[in-house]
Amino acid sequence: METVVSGIRSTGNLHLGNYFGALKNFLRMQNEHNCYFFIADLHSLTTHPHPADLHKSVRNVLVEYLAAGLDPEKCTLYIQSDVPEISELYLILNMNAYKGELERVPSFKEKVRSQPNNVNAGLLTYPVLMTADIIIHKATKVPVGKDQEAHLEMARNLGNRFNNMYEVDFFPEPYAFNFGEQLVKVPGLDGKGKMSKSSGEHTAIFLTDDEATITKKMKRAVTDMSPTEANAPKPESIQNLFDLMQLVSSKETIAHFESTWKECSIRYGDMKMQIAKDMNSYIAPIRQRIKEVDADTEFIAKAVKIGEEKARASAAKTVREAKEIIGFRKFY
Ligand code: ADP
Ligand code: TRP
Repeated sequence: METVVSGIRSTGNLHLGNYFGALKNFLRMQNEHNCYFFIADLHSLTTHPHPADLHKSVRNVLVEYLAAGLDPEKCTLYIQSDVPEISELYLILNMNAYKGELERVPSFKEKVRSQPNNVNAGLLTYPVLMTADIIIHKATKVPVGKDQEAHLEMARNLGNRFNNMYEVDFFPEPYAFNFGEQLVKVPGLDGKGKMSKSSGEHTAIFLTDDEATITKKMKRAVTDMSPTEANAPKPESIQNLFDLMQLVSSKETIAHFESTWKECSIRYGDMKMQIAKDMNSYIAPIRQRIKEVDADTEFIAKAVKIGEEKARASAAKTVREAKEIIGFRKFY
């Protein structure tokens, strides 16, 4: 059994891309590994959210993850800011993180371009905080996508730097993890790119969307011209419909539409309505559970309390030992 850590950004509602690309892996991992999943609310301060918005989005994410099946008894589910030891380790790690290497991280360069008026030190040291998140539990596996590879490299570097500096073998190296399977890419409804909050509400299906909303969005999903010759290769927007169908529909349904494509008798309207129907059946129980969890303030409170306790126990041990190694020793 390995130790797994993953941070969840606390922005917006979850869409099917988040569900099939990330959350489903978490659900599987919690049964097989020692998992720490947390909501990265400290990281979100890099954009200075209003206090009410910050609290609301953390609660939203928490509700949706609990509703989708993360089980506080099986994994350690917590809120980053509830574990002050993370901030302490972050401060310590900052002493050995260099401006040059931090400035070269692609996500930082991207922020400098996209928000030149808010290039704060938190953005520069984002990968140091992420390192603290991971190595504080001595995790070896981090379920994240390709875009986080540079951050993981920083986590390995900073952990190794600590080990070398103090001649210890204290922090193990963390690596990206996805069960060795190909990463799922859920397409957006705009016929290009992946499903994402940032490309617009209408291009993503959210776990909270009701049947009418799903149907409306699917109706508007972009499709190309109908095929004119048998067995033609599929253009991207049509492949996208088949990819979406693959996630929620039965084998028989998929086979039926595959054969109508081959025979050029496919009707995109029918296919879209079939996908909408199957998406709705898939989402309905989660949507219902989101409503239940959202109303159950006591359950939420209990879940975060257990998470906080478990995460702090693990984090405090690491920080205590790291401080001893550094030379912070008690006089009493
Ligand atoms: P968004 O693109 O909507 O801002 P995030 O970047 O916050 O989503 O992604 C959160 C998690 O969900 C990440 O692990 C990411 O890899 C995964 N994810 C997001 N969109 C998709 C998608 N369309 N297909 C597969 N995985 C996705
Ligand atoms: N940077 C990650 C993202 O953008 C979120 C994150 C913060 C994270 N801390 C982490 C992911 C620790 C894994 C481990 O998605």
